Amino acid sequence: MSDRVIGVGVIGCGEIAQLMHLPYLHELPEFRIAALCDVSRGAAEKLGTHCRVSARYSDHRALLADPDVDAVLIATYDHAEIATDALRAGKHLLVEKLLAFTPEEARPLVEHAERGGLVALVGYMKLYDPGYEIGLERIALIGPPKSIHVHDFAGRFDRHGRLYTQTRVTDAPADALAAGRNAVARRIDAALGRDHAGYRDLYLVVLGLGSHDLAAMRGAFGAPSRVVYARQIGPKQLLAVLEYDDVPCVFDMAMAQYEWWDEWIHVHGERDEVRIEFQNTYFRNASAIVRVREAAGEGPSERVIPGAPDTAFRREWLHFADCIMPGRSRARRCPAGSPTSILPFRSSRRCRPKLFEAKAVERWTLVRRAQDRSGQKNMRSYERSEAIQGRPYRPRLRAACLRPLDCFVANAPRNDASVG
Ligand SMILES: NC(=O)c1ccc[n+]([C@@H]2O[C@H](COP(=O)([O-])OP(=O)(O)OC[C@H]3O[C@@H](n4cnc5c(N)ncnc54)[C@H](O)[C@@H]3O)[C@@H](O)[C@H]2O)c1
Repeated sequence: MSDRVIGVGVIGCGEIAQLMHLPYLHELPEFRIAALCDVSRGAAEKLGTHCRVSARYSDHRALLADPDVDAVLIATYDHAEIATDALRAGKHLLVEKLLAFTPEEARPLVEHAERGGLVALVGYMKLYDPGYEIGLERIALIGPPKSIHVHDFAGRFDRHGRLYTQTRVTDAPADALAAGRNAVARRIDAALGRDHAGYRDLYLVVLGLGSHDLAAMRGAFGAPSRVVYARQIGPKQLLAVLEYDDVPCVFDMAMAQYEWWDEWIHVHGERDEVRIEFQNTYFRNASAIVRVREAAGEGPSERVIPGAPDTAFRREWLHFADCIMPGRSRARRCPAGSPTSILPFRSSRRCRPKLFEAKAVERWTLVRRAQDRSGQKNMRSYERSEAIQGRPYRPRLRAACLRPLDCFVANAPRNDASVG
């Protein structure tokens, strides 16, 4: 694999595949688009002609049998069965979030990926956002947080379409698609159980939207120690208070109709504040902006640090190539602050310690710089913040998509008003 281009089979040729994945697979020399698959035969045909890909399928099993396919992108609605088949077929996989709809579906997949020598990555691409990485570095420098706020009120999803040319064909068997969605609904209902019946729609929003924020939150701080409070505010709105030892973390998430993108992580330290503001997911080359509020002498100051123009999806693919092809420079793709070693669901045990070490070295450099500027005090606060932040850098195989159910159903008190 090290001396050849990775042939990727794309399963599910809908919006996100066309807007973000196919352009980078086409552009990056590490990859070639080996095959396309969609239950809409017309979509696979039309896109195949457009991308000049002759291998076109309407059944993912046929694509998996194609020897030209080394790895797959799964960008359908329901991923677990296809991911299982891909692992059985010996293909590396990048599966769009969410890995699965319930922990019961996801756990065997994680175990399966662990056993094989394959790379399996869940597409929480915000973890690769250059602005997010800068934000993590800044958070590390402000000492132990007093409070954390993770917020996502998603803006309108019908605005970005006009920026791109898409191929939409409506010949997919509507009955089969509807049956698939109904089957998912039944699986979720079973997972929620009688105690939490009625939360399916909100749960789907947490998985579809909030899972990105939970992944970014866990990338920065690890898994919270407990859920203090969780409440459904409206049909598509959740408010929760989580806790990291004695540090509270407000998590609020909703679907909204804003003409802007309202997604951020705000960390309050003793003297400084850092805020990572994510940009619209569907914009290319728009990375998160970091705002730092700090003292300037005896007065306040605010700095805005724009992330380098790059696209998180592009960097996600580069990291995927790094994991598959031994010998490529991972450090280049995984700078300090990047949460790559917590990236869920990667099966290659070999590369984890290296990532961890690279990060430790980089973070130590960061500490030394902080020390040079401000002496021992900063060092101590760094160490404390590291105690909080250190947790995510331990390898974690539990896919972040397990967390919504774990957090909001398993841990929280059960009553009518709460999500859990
Ligand atoms: N990372 C992100 O920010 C992000 C953004 C949007 C969507 N997504 C994820 O990507 C996935 C796709 O989302 P989308 O917006 O592109 O949806 P979409 O409906 O536009 O595309 C899904 C495509 O998959 C096809 N499909 C469905 N079942 C199939 C099967 N069994 N085999 C082959 N093809 C099949 C459909 O015909 C459709 O073309 C979802 O899981 C979603 O959660 C991630």
